[in-house]
Amino acid sequence: MDIGIVVHSQTGHTHSVAEKLREKLATAGHTVTLERLEAEGEVRPGVKDVRLKSVPNVEAYDAIVFGSPVHGFALALAMQAYLRQVPSLAGKRAACFVTQSFPFAWMGGDRALRQMTRACQAKGATICGVGVVNWSRRSREQQIAAMVDRLSRHLPS
Ligand SMILES: Cc1cc2nc3c(=O)[nH]c(=O)nc-3n(C[C@H](O)[C@H](O)[C@H](O)COP(=O)(O)O)c2cc1C
Repeated sequence: MDIGIVVHSQTGHTHSVAEKLREKLATAGHTVTLERLEAEGEVRPGVKDVRLKSVPNVEAYDAIVFGSPVHGFALALAMQAYLRQVPSLAGKRAACFVTQSFPFAWMGGDRALRQMTRACQAKGATICGVGVVNWSRRSREQQIAAMVDRLSRHLPS
C-alpha cells in the first residue's frame, strides 16, 4: 500500500511521531512517503491568509496520515490552510493525529482533531483512526507507541 504522511511541525515533536509511524508502516511492508508542511514566513495567531511553501500532492497515495501540533486550542493554521487547499481526498483512507503540550486532550487536542477530521471528510476521505499525544505527560513515550501501533493497524484496509 502507498501511504503518505503529511506533517506540520514547528519544534519537532509532531515530526518525531510521524517518523516513528513511518518506520512502523515501512517495516510492515508499505511504501511510505513523509512530506513536511511548512508555512511561508511567520504565522501569527488570527492570521487568515497563511501561505504554504508547498502543497504536498497526495493523489498517488491510497491512505494518508495528517499530523499537526495544537495551537491556541485549535488546529495549527498551516494545517488548516493545507486542508482547505488540498484538491480532493475522495476514496482515500485518512488518519489524523495531533501533539499538544497540555496533559489532557480536552485542552485543545480534541478540538483540533475534530477540525482535522471534518476537513478531511469534507474532501471525501474516510477517517480510519485518530490520536492525540500529550507532550507533558510522563507516559508520553507509551502514549506515542500505542498510537503508532493503533494507527498502523487501522490504516491499511
Ligand atoms: C503558538 C502556540 C500555541 C500553542 N497552543 C497550545 C494549546 O492550545 N494547547 C496545548 O496543549 N499546547 C499548545 N501548544 C504547544 C504545542 O501544541 C506542542 O508543544 C506541540 O507538541 C508542538 O509540536 P511541534 O514540535 O511539532 O511544533 C502551543 C504552541 C505554540 C507555539
